[in-house]
Amino acid sequence: MPGREALAFDMYGTLVDPIRIWTRLEQYVPDQALRIAEVWRQKQLEYSFRLTAMERYEDFEQLTRKSLDYALATAGRELTAEQKDALMAQYNDLERFPDVEPGLSRLQQLGHAMVVFSNGSPRMLDALMDAAGLRPYFDGFVSVDEVQAFKPSPKTYGRVAERLGRPIGEIRLISSNPFDDIGAESAGMQATWVDRSGGLFDTLRPPPQMVVGSLIELADVLEKDGQA
Ligand code: LAC
Repeated sequence: MPGREALAFDMYGTLVDPIRIWTRLEQYVPDQALRIAEVWRQKQLEYSFRLTAMERYEDFEQLTRKSLDYALATAGRELTAEQKDALMAQYNDLERFPDVEPGLSRLQQLGHAMVVFSNGSPRMLDALMDAAGLRPYFDGFVSVDEVQAFKPSPKTYGRVAERLGRPIGEIRLISSNPFDDIGAESAGMQATWVDRSGGLFDTLRPPPQMVVGSLIELADVLEKDGQA
């Protein structure tokens, strides 16, 4: 099939929205739910970068729990173990962005090979793929757990290439997270930035050549490229 690409999709922030968990947090902390959700996500990523710089590894589920504790503490709040378990369960049932289903189904029709590629632990990704109805679109997932390092370690991008059995330069990362796009390109992968809200790209490096506003636009662009 002409123009058939190997696409590796980031999960959190690209396929599902980790910030939307604020709607669940609101049940426990009605006045500061959005802020806590944002700190939670930021701290989760910061811990993943720091562990990787230290050449240490803890699974993403543990990091997500620890960063939740930090976010709650910044708001001067504590939750019971049951409430935190309920939030962690919600983390495995995050909402899909609205363009994901129509976008993925077009990409699948175009014949692209697609996998999820994420910091998430295998247990989290297994649960989320089912809950978000993502399973039918993907040839499974690649968790960074396989290399015991987080993005943007080049080991993680290298692992996807190995799993897909293609040279790294023939694989395209699809991610809304600028640090992930920059990490992929730095490791020799192609990257597409999914910028749904006209956000800022990191000033560390220029944005990738291909920037799309949704996965539907991604399907359009790849279809045109395939015909060119
Ligand atoms: C992931 C993080 C980066 O899914 O959002 O890998």
